[in-house]
Order: sequence, then C-alpha cells, then structure tokens
Amino acid sequence: MATNRENFGSRAAVIMAMAGSAIGLGNIWRFPYMVGEYGGAAFILVFILCSFLLSFPIFLSEAVIGRRTSANAIGAMKKLAPGSGWKVLGYLSVVTPMIIVSYYSIVGGWSIEYFFKSFSLNFGDFRPTGWVQLLFNTIFLALSCGIVAFGVKAGIEKFNKISIPLLFVLIVLIMIYSVNMPGADKGIDYLIKPDFSKITGRTFAFALGQSFYSMSLGMGIVLTYSSYVHKDENLVASGAGTVLAALLFSILAGFAIMPAVFSAGIAPSSGPGLVYQTLPHVFTGMGASSSPLLAAIIAVLFFFSVVVAAMTSSISLIEVGVAYLVEEKGIKRSVACLLVFLLAWVLGLASVFSMEAFGKVDAFSSNFMLTVGVMLVVLFVGWKMDKKEIRDELTNGGTINNKVFGVFYFLVRYVAPIVVMIIFISNFVL
Ligand code: PHE
Repeated sequence: MATNRENFGSRAAVIMAMAGSAIGLGNIWRFPYMVGEYGGAAFILVFILCSFLLSFPIFLSEAVIGRRTSANAIGAMKKLAPGSGWKVLGYLSVVTPMIIVSYYSIVGGWSIEYFFKSFSLNFGDFRPTGWVQLLFNTIFLALSCGIVAFGVKAGIEKFNKISIPLLFVLIVLIMIYSVNMPGADKGIDYLIKPDFSKITGRTFAFALGQSFYSMSLGMGIVLTYSSYVHKDENLVASGAGTVLAALLFSILAGFAIMPAVFSAGIAPSSGPGLVYQTLPHVFTGMGASSSPLLAAIIAVLFFFSVVVAAMTSSISLIEVGVAYLVEEKGIKRSVACLLVFLLAWVLGLASVFSMEAFGKVDAFSSNFMLTVGVMLVVLFVGWKMDKKEIRDELTNGGTINNKVFGVFYFLVRYVAPIVVMIIFISNFVL
C-alpha cells in the first residue's frame, strides 16, 4: 500500500503545508486579543516560550509517528501498537478534525460572505446563522474538499505553496497601512507594553492552549502531513520552520488588526466579534473619514486573506479523514473527498443554524478533544514507543540532530505530560 503514497516535494513544501494548517483563524481572531489582555509583550514572551518548549516537541512527537509509519492516523497506530488500546489515539485523531471542520468551514463561509460585502463596504449586522450561511458554508467546504481531491502534491502542496507567501505579503501590506493610521500608537502600545503583573497561572494555560490550537496539534494533522515527508528530510528543521512561520504570522496579524481597531476608537474583542463586528466598523469608518476606495481595497484584501488562511487550515483537517478512507478502506480519493464533504456538511447543520451549538462544538472539540489528543500523543511517544525508533526518525539514523534528541526526549517524557495534565484540569476550573 505504501508504494503509491505521495510525498511532499521539498522542505519548503513541507513547511508551507504545515504552516498552512497552523496559520488560520486562531492567529487572526484570538492571538491579538490575548496579547493585549494578558500582558502585551510579556505575553508574547510567554507564548514564544510555550511554543518552543512544549508545542515544538509535541509537534515532533506527532511527526515521528507519521513519518515512521508512512500511514494515516489509524493505520499508524495499528502499525506501531497492534492490537492494543492505543488505537484510541488513531480513532480520536480522525474524529476530532471531522468535528472541527464542520464548524470551521462555517467561519470560512462567513469570510466569503464578508469578502463580497467588502466591495461595497456595506456589511450590515453580523448574522452568523441561517440559510445564507449554509450556502456559503457549502461553497467553502466544497472548495476545500475540491483542493484535497487533487491529491497531496497537485492539490495540498500547490495550494499552500501559493497561499502562504501570498498571505504574508497581504498581512504585511495591511499592517503597514494599519500602523500608519491616526491614533494607531495606542494599538501598538496595547500589543507591546509589557505588563508582567498580568502574567498569572491562567496566562500560561491560555498561552499553551492557544499554542496547541494554533499549531494544529492533537488531531492527527501533523501526523498525517508528516507521513508525506520524505525519509531524508530533517524533521526537526521543518518543525522549527513551521513554528517560526506560525509565530511570525500571529505577531504580524496583531499589528495589522489592533492599531486599526484603536485608531477607530473601538474596544477590541476576541473571537468572531473581532473579525465580523469590530473590523467591519473599522472599515466603514475608514471609508467615511478618508478614501472609500482605499478602505474597500483594504477590506477586500483582509477578508480575502481570512478566506485563504481558513482554507489552508480546513484542507489539513479534511486530509486526515481522506487519508484514512483511502488507505484503510480502499476508497478512491475523489470519492473519499465527497464522503468527507457530506459528513462535515451534515455535522455542521446544527452549528449553521444555532450559535449555541456552534459554541458547544467549538469548545468540546478544540479544548477537550484536542487536549486529550495531545496527552495521548505525548504519553505514547514518551512512554510507549520504542526509544530507538524515535531517535532513528528524528536523527535520520544518527546522522543529524544527535544533540537535540536528549532535550526533546526529556521534554516529551517528563515535562509535557505534567503540563498538559495541568492544562486539562484548568479547562474545567478556570
Ligand atoms: N491552527 C488553526 C488556526 O490557528 C486552527 C486549526 C485547528 C486548524 C485545528 C486545523 C486544525 O486557526
């Protein structure tokens, strides 16, 4: 079966694909707000620390499972721990992304709707649920599944290789405009004024949760994408590239969004409210006070970026299920994409008509299931999987990364399980 598997073409392709999954709504609507609320530059520091000390080793753990087995999430666990209870990790890794994509694509749909509204700067009230939203959700989901249907190289790799550089260019352009708006300095202060008194235990819990979500950990994505990474590739280097790209994008997004929000004299919010309520105000205000044409151009570029960022993430969610159906069930790729489309569409019906359902599905999958997934990955790689196999995979048979291996193994075996357990518990008590 491994014979007809595709591989990503280069390290750049691997990083673009992984970064494509990582860069998404989390960077745009949660990160900038969290920075401001939890200590500005001090929070950014905590976030960077969490990303490198925990998310990075956890990312590598998932990557090891994927590349070692060259298999989808369920197939991988069957190979590494046949007949054991660890298959739960495989199943969870396929189920979680299916649930996430069902509501993530609704947000993708809102973004398409707002992209069209940007041309006239006429946004109206934010209406998150209903038939129009079902229509745009269907379009977004169909486009995402369509890209995946083209395959790993011609679909996923190609789309990310164009989208990720484009996203960086767009966000930098928007940022340049934003930081030059009158009164933008208050927004810049909001992001960079370090306030160490705001750093508490909660801050760490939020920073880590955000980092896990942002790096798309604990849901079979890094595992599945890594199964397409060539055996000669340096996993540690491509992982580091991914972490850096995702971090950088988060910070750029912060400087693209918050100065504009403050310049308009609006209090920033987090979540859907920031992108679909606050920012439309900012854009219409810009249109009224300066040039409507320029305001429309910035709005169009911004919502286009949101659509693309959401799509590079949704295709990674879809690929997890598709890889499973193709490899374990022997279903043709195009048919597998259609099945995933239908399942995600049906699963999303509740969320598309009820914000309450949307909130519950989001919280359950991206807090609870994600944390359980991360915990299982860490325990499996730290305590169950053969250490020699792990070393082999990260050092390419002892030829590279020999020094970092010890640090990695220590973090995954001892530090990560304790910290993830604390995060898990804090989800219930905070
Ligand atoms: N990492 C994406 C973001 O920050 C979200 C995501 C989560 C994507 C899970 C895929 C899977 O928006």
